[in-house]
Amino acid sequence: MADDKKSWEHRLKGGPADVTVDFVESLSVDKRLYKYDIAGSIAHARMLSEVGLIKEQEFTQIKEGLLAIGDKMEQGQFVFDKRTEDIHMAIEAALVEQIGEAGKKLHTGRSRNDQIATDIRLWIRDQIELLQRLLRQLQQAFVELADKSSQIVMPAYTHLQRAQPISAGAYLLSFVEQFERDYKRLGNCADLMNVSPLGSGALAGSTLKLERKSTAEQLGFADITANSIDAVSDRDFAAEFIFDCSLIAAHLSRLAEDWIIYSTNEFAFVKIADQYCTSSSMMPQKRNPDLLELIRGKTGSVYGALVGMLTILKAQPSGYNRDLQEDKFHIFTASDTVEKSLVVAREIIKHTEFDADRISSGLDAGFLDATALAEYLVGRGVAFRQAHGIVGQLVDYCEQQSKRLAELDVGDFHKFSPDIGSDVYEWLGAKAVVNRYTTEGSAGIEQTAIQIEKWKKRLADKT
Ligand code: ARG
Repeated sequence: MADDKKSWEHRLKGGPADVTVDFVESLSVDKRLYKYDIAGSIAHARMLSEVGLIKEQEFTQIKEGLLAIGDKMEQGQFVFDKRTEDIHMAIEAALVEQIGEAGKKLHTGRSRNDQIATDIRLWIRDQIELLQRLLRQLQQAFVELADKSSQIVMPAYTHLQRAQPISAGAYLLSFVEQFERDYKRLGNCADLMNVSPLGSGALAGSTLKLERKSTAEQLGFADITANSIDAVSDRDFAAEFIFDCSLIAAHLSRLAEDWIIYSTNEFAFVKIADQYCTSSSMMPQKRNPDLLELIRGKTGSVYGALVGMLTILKAQPSGYNRDLQEDKFHIFTASDTVEKSLVVAREIIKHTEFDADRISSGLDAGFLDATALAEYLVGRGVAFRQAHGIVGQLVDYCEQQSKRLAELDVGDFHKFSPDIGSDVYEWLGAKAVVNRYTTEGSAGIEQTAIQIEKWKKRLADKT
């Protein structure tokens, strides 16, 4: 047999048309999986030698050949040829070329279908570790800034209207919580996909006596997949991973949106260091938050990847279908995008300061203390719904008089409620209010200090 042919070229005559080669190849996308493919192949070959399907010496030859190919790829010296279709065939072809006969035994009891299912799991596993590390670093940066800013009282918004005063530290810690859930979500994803599909073959398994637990163990999987048909077609973990990336992107985009607003002249709550801003080619005065806008914009690519992945999965017939090859584009897009955004977000947080004077100079506007005044009345035995009405009227009165609540005298207050005493002033003004929040997890000064300590300790334990 003329063995310069791909093995299936004995079945299909004349070789593939150029358009076929171009259209089916995934090498341009999946070549970055080479390390994982090689690790999977070494594990598979070792198992084949353990069960006597290849000789020990053949295993050694295969292993050394694969490692040499890996080195070549690492050094950028490997010539990728799209006619080999994908990373699996590229490596196998190079191995046969390098070591001859023994190389032709590597694919015993294996299909590219279980091979790719294994490679992606291994790649995502490493990537999850990396993203988790970046999330921790981002949380660290937030906690440091929260620590520096915990005494700054700022307005919090609902509906982007002034709502209640909070510690800037509490605002920052709200992101630490979001990224903590992202961290855990990724961990859950890693746990759920921690099973080896190797040995599932094309979809039905094999008549050969493969020892699946051996490859699983060598590759660090906790177990083996239970059903070969499911194993080769399951990409739930990929959809889940991309969803986890999507929520990270969502959280980053909320931060970006806040800080784009906070860095306007109108707000000027935060100042991002020059190195993390851009300017305009035309307007010389500009200091633009382009990095944040790009973080916000890149969320679109990540969500696009999620929809792409879910759509690939929809209504696929059972077993492996080539549609699945498109999964990698979406997995890589989502992961690469979020990885870069996390790095940039971390650097921006580290190089931003809150402008305490500016924030404080505008604190009196917007009746941030109105809710606390209603709660003061509750303390005086007034039903909350009634107190809410009284304070509403007081705010209306203040607006007519162009006054703050704290500028009214007791006589003014009495026009609206006999229950307001001269101690009311201890409840008025944004700073007084922030010192009065007592509920656990509140955005007040005291609770923020507790949360900061908790996070410092947790992050120190973990990193
Ligand atoms: N490159 C394919 C993928 O990424 C694996 C090959 C499976 N191809 C096949 N014809 N069975 O999914």
